[in-house]
Amino acid sequence: MSNKTIKNIKERRSVRKYIDKNISGEILEEIIDCARLAPTGNNRQAWSFLVITDAEIKSKIASYARYGKFIEEAGACIAIFVNQNKATTPLQDASAATENIMIAAKSYDLGTCWINSYQKEHSKKIKDLVNCPQDMELMTLMSIGYYQEEDVNMPSKKNLSEVMVWDKF
Ligand SMILES: Cc1cc2nc3c(=O)[nH]c(=O)nc-3n(C[C@H](O)[C@H](O)[C@H](O)COP(=O)(O)O)c2cc1C
Repeated sequence: MSNKTIKNIKERRSVRKYIDKNISGEILEEIIDCARLAPTGNNRQAWSFLVITDAEIKSKIASYARYGKFIEEAGACIAIFVNQNKATTPLQDASAATENIMIAAKSYDLGTCWINSYQKEHSKKIKDLVNCPQDMELMTLMSIGYYQEEDVNMPSKKNLSEVMVWDKF
């Protein structure tokens, strides 16, 4: 496979175990730069990308997120907030940016995992913790960090022929 983007998309898998290695600020900035270029409904871009590298804050978030305990070990945690009064398609916008982050991260040999956080039990606690402005809503939360290949699960995927349909059902 020679196309690097295609390779990254095909080889990305959720990573839930990380090694103790910092991610440079330059790399995190480049990844968020990819996020902010994602498409948004009516080009509203009514979002903020919160990058958390502080160990104490990460640890607190990990303790709140039942299915995201591994955030504590990750080099960083990224939270996407959208102003639902300004965005026309908030969840879709955040999801598009999330995928951009995951693919950009993969190209830096960084693993990610999406942690379901839209209107979940832990969402309000996280919003309070990070002083989230009143008009913003937490849409997605991600862990991001360096990892070892052998620690990655490879969940089975449906075959192309099972999911691809030409012209009509
Ligand atoms: C909207 C969404 C929410 C998810 N929430 C969680 C979560 O809370 N915790 C977790 O460990 N994985 C979560 N995942 C990751 C999925 O479990 C994972 O993508 C799926 O098992 C397929 O594996 P893959 O990402 O390795 O291809 C979520 C994925 C999506 C798209």
